[in-house]
Amino acid sequence: MASLTVRQLDEKLKRRLRLRAAKNGRSVEDEVRTILRSAAADADSFAGAAELAHAGAAPVDPARQTAAMRVVLIIGGGIAAYKSLDLIRRLQDRGAHVRCVLTRAAQHFVTPLAAGALAGERAYVDLFDPQSEFDVGHIRLARDADLIVVAPATADLIAKMAHGHADDLATAVLLATDRSILIAPAMNPRMWAGKATQRNLAQLRADGVRLVGPNAGEMAERGEAGTGRMAEPAEIAAAAVAMLHADGALAGRRMLITSGPTSEPLDPVRVLANRSSGKQGHAIAGAAAAAGADVVLVSGPVNLPDPPGVTVVHVETAQQMLVAVERALPADVAIFAAAVADWRPLHVSGSKIKKHGRPPTIALTENPDILSTVAHRKSGRPRLVIGFAAETDDVIGNAEAKLKKKGCDWILANDVSPATGIMGGDRNTVHLVTAAGVESWPPQSKDDVAHSLIERVAAAIADIKR
Ligand code: C5P
Repeated sequence: MASLTVRQLDEKLKRRLRLRAAKNGRSVEDEVRTILRSAAADADSFAGAAELAHAGAAPVDPARQTAAMRVVLIIGGGIAAYKSLDLIRRLQDRGAHVRCVLTRAAQHFVTPLAAGALAGERAYVDLFDPQSEFDVGHIRLARDADLIVVAPATADLIAKMAHGHADDLATAVLLATDRSILIAPAMNPRMWAGKATQRNLAQLRADGVRLVGPNAGEMAERGEAGTGRMAEPAEIAAAAVAMLHADGALAGRRMLITSGPTSEPLDPVRVLANRSSGKQGHAIAGAAAAAGADVVLVSGPVNLPDPPGVTVVHVETAQQMLVAVERALPADVAIFAAAVADWRPLHVSGSKIKKHGRPPTIALTENPDILSTVAHRKSGRPRLVIGFAAETDDVIGNAEAKLKKKGCDWILANDVSPATGIMGGDRNTVHLVTAAGVESWPPQSKDDVAHSLIERVAAAIADIKR
């Protein structure tokens, strides 16, 4: 039998394994054993179908099966079904791989071709279609998902779910799944208010099914208004992502992260600034949110989009950053990745300083040290306080001194000499400095540094009560 060690796996896979292991309280090796055991059990139950697939049916793309978040989107038969096509894109924008199942009624409103083209995989429609059953099968559709979303969830589909019907592919998947289910009801307000619908919804809620919407407003039918409009695709996608993240290794943890440079005004048009791009801090915020943390990112001026799922507070100066950081506390973990200006002009001129005679002398005054302020708090100190040390000389020696002086728990030290290309670049080489010693990480993308750090954070606070 072939032997494989975890070390031989690629970095992304290792990272996912470590996160899974931390979340389940197992060693990485035990996690791998658990996964292999369940894959072997799956393989047994699907051996027959797999043989038939080899004999002719199209194989399932394995890359798609390993996508980060797998959503099965069940499209029910209502006028709001056209919005579900937009929902496919919104879920994909948030990193989900989407598989679509259309009910027979849904196909009156949208075609499987349109849904499949947007999803990048053909849409599934028929419980008794031999090709679908050999490709994936309704049980696999139900299992190979992290979340099932039903949008629109019609009154009829809700009734079938509540009573455990399984007479078509959509209801069979819903009955067969042990994954979380999110429904986006959409129907006429009178149908929504109907006693039978409300009874069915109470049953679904008791079964652990989550709802998004319906919203109040105009109906598709002329002159009809009330509660029954399907939630907007962006709302449904946000609710889906929140449910997916609720299972993450940092679910229920509050994290505070600073990022970017600060910009210290000299007059209304001039500032003292630095070359920080914010890429590393923003990547950490995104990775923390993807691991389920409730993240506040306090950012100086950067040319980056806000990371999805993160509450971003935009500031300019170090003083504003300190105020925003203190407002964002308490937090379980605080990571200070911002390149805060050490000094600011002592006087800020109210009007543009004119050029006459000799150049002005600019007096500077020290800015508050935000990391040190938070790390030395007597009460309400985050359990884990992490700083960065961007150095050009004696990187590790300076980082060790900084760890003590600033009172933080960990420092990520990096060499930012111009030759490294780290400042503003996409890659980073960091050393993790803690009281226990120094660990040098291989050169990697800033995204990978972020994920490795988040994985370490999740493991470090796994024992602390949420
Ligand atoms: O002292 P130095 O700027 O090298 O320290 C770097 C670390 O301290 C970084 O984590 C940075 O975000 C933080 N820092 C801060 N407030 C300052 C200066 C640095 O939070 N005024």
